[in-house]
Amino acid sequence: MDRVIRIGMLGCGTVGGGVATILAREADDITARTGAKLEITRVAVRDLARDRGLDLPASVFTSDPLEVVDGEDIDVVVEVMGGRAPASDLLRRALAQGKPVVTANKELVAHEGPELYDAARSAGVDLAYEAAVAGAIPIIKPMKESLAGDRVSRVVGILNGTTNYILTRMSEEGADYAEVLADAQALGYAEADPTADVGGHDAAAKCAILASLAFDTAVHADDVFTQGIETVNATDIRVADRLGYVIKLLGIASEVDGRVGVRVHPTFLPKEHPLASVRGSFNAIYVEAEAAGELMFYGRGAGAEPTGSAVVGDIIDVARNLLQTARGAAESQHRPKDLRSIDELRTQYYVLLDVEDQAGVLAEVARAFGDNGVSIAQVWQEGTRSSAQLVLITHRAREAALRATVDSLAAVDSIRSVASVLRVEAEVFSS
Ligand code: NAP
Ligand code: HSE
Repeated sequence: MDRVIRIGMLGCGTVGGGVATILAREADDITARTGAKLEITRVAVRDLARDRGLDLPASVFTSDPLEVVDGEDIDVVVEVMGGRAPASDLLRRALAQGKPVVTANKELVAHEGPELYDAARSAGVDLAYEAAVAGAIPIIKPMKESLAGDRVSRVVGILNGTTNYILTRMSEEGADYAEVLADAQALGYAEADPTADVGGHDAAAKCAILASLAFDTAVHADDVFTQGIETVNATDIRVADRLGYVIKLLGIASEVDGRVGVRVHPTFLPKEHPLASVRGSFNAIYVEAEAAGELMFYGRGAGAEPTGSAVVGDIIDVARNLLQTARGAAESQHRPKDLRSIDELRTQYYVLLDVEDQAGVLAEVARAFGDNGVSIAQVWQEGTRSSAQLVLITHRAREAALRATVDSLAAVDSIRSVASVLRVEAEVFSS
């Protein structure tokens, strides 16, 4: 008779519902592949009265998460409740009891990953978190296992579906930012409070996790330079298009001479780059490795079943390991590495200025750039006499110099505002 692996779930919302649906629908095949029956034995939720439309008996639900974590009849803990507290304490408690854990919680892994990896290592059990980065896309396992013998030099990702959906519709339909954000919320891509999406923090958490794995060092979400898409406007998108670029919110992590740089920001990306064709709510991760060369991973980064698919894949891995009393591939022992400040970045920049349309303005603008050692590659004027805009593209310059230039520009009376500053990644990515 097949052995039964008893699953305790912390949370049963969007992702938890997807997990329960897949486990029920694919039960026979999963048993054939695993050699065990996977059974949801207990589920902790906040609202016991809510009808979840799932084929689970009412008796499995509890409002006490400790009944899941401490239950002697639970073999695997699956955390799909989200947030740092109480999830952090619950997962540490499960690991300390020798229970393997599967989680989809990017916020938790991005802030406490290395500590949780150590807790799992000390307990000799698995901690799996494939769903924490880019939903359905297998990327944690490739980074941890398939590329373990290679040297990754750069990871560039479209890691947030909401912002990619917004930027795609703004680019392709000329749609208005606020209107498209409301659509993204109605479609369930954005969080109820979309600040983490549009502010780049969700992508930064995912990028920190990828950087830690790629470069064998501890990168926390707070280490990531983060700029969101809130101020990207129709002129930015039109200029990008005219120059042969699309604007994408990219997470970029690279290692140069043993130092790691991690940043998330809206970027002018050449239309020919494979990531430029990633539209709508899709995610993609482009990896450059010394031996493997260039790799791209593409798919749905969110949603009940896409994310549920990644969680179920992890549960199956963990179950197989339990049956063999083995442990899956773990993260490498983290080595401290210096992090590069964004000030050291050297790239091209696009700058949009709202200006008075009068004699001498261009000279004052040119002086601000020249005084800070930033060389201008292109400049032209747009708009009308009453609302004139200057568009500038620089040659490659240091971020610190560009920032000093912006400070100088802000002090010029005839410049009404510095409307946009965006990084331009030309043929090769900057480090
Ligand atoms: P969700 O729909 O809000 O579900 C959260 C679940 O956790 C709910 O069932 C809730 O109970 C339960 N819960 C929350 N706090 C609890 C507590 N203190 N005690 C007991 N139960 C508690 O969230 P979700 O979208 O499924 O996301 C879950 C996790 O997956 C998050 O870490 C998220 O970042 C990650 N993730 C989500 C997606 C996605 O597409 N949604 C994609 C990738 C990763 P009630 O139902 O009773 O309120
Ligand atoms: N709000 C997230 C996104 C969900 O838009 O990608 C998945 O993490």
